[in-house]
Amino acid sequence: MLYYGLLGLNFRLTFRYMKTRKQNHTTSSNSGLGRAQPVLHQRARETQNYNSVTPELPLGLSSEKREEIVQLLNQILADTMSLRDLYKKNHWQVSGPTFYQLHLLYDKHYGEQAELVDQVAERIQILGGISVAMAHDVAELTNIARPPRGREEVPVQISRLLEAHETIIKEVRKSARRAADLGDDGSNDLLVSDVLRTNELQVWFLSEHLVPMPLVIAK
Ligand SMILES: [Fe+2]
Repeated sequence: MLYYGLLGLNFRLTFRYMKTRKQNHTTSSNSGLGRAQPVLHQRARETQNYNSVTPELPLGLSSEKREEIVQLLNQILADTMSLRDLYKKNHWQVSGPTFYQLHLLYDKHYGEQAELVDQVAERIQILGGISVAMAHDVAELTNIARPPRGREEVPVQISRLLEAHETIIKEVRKSARRAADLGDDGSNDLLVSDVLRTNELQVWFLSEHLVPMPLVIAK
């Protein structure tokens, strides 16, 4: 008898608890407090896989052609991101009598490369593809040689930058021709007018620093 009595009390307490909880929830919803709470820690399936393109887009370019160009552009993007970061590394770590001018020049080139990164990444998205974005993925994809973490002399810094530029320049010329062959004039224009010309100009500004000219007394 006592057992059934306790059981009944337990049910009544549970029912009351649930009713109160529901009332509290309704009250906070009505006052707007419940809805003002951000829904945190959310995850869901990807909406598009890397290495895929949107099947239908009104661009007059088949998905097969766009897929091929996206792959070429992602290689250029990964290498441009690596070169951009190499400039910042050198901007921070440069030392010696040319510190001031190189500190500024490296940062100028960094900014121009960062602009190219955005243009190439958005071109990929325009074509219905997915741009490579995070450092981990860039590190796996890039063809630019990894420099040491430590500081290096100016001629070594400039040599590494020039080698990175040349890698990109070769890829860009080849990819620009392929884009033209596939009828993607927009990508061809971006690659030639922006990426190629910026890289060629930066090569000129850098390589002049490796000419052994006398500083004070003529030879
Ligand atoms: Fe800075």
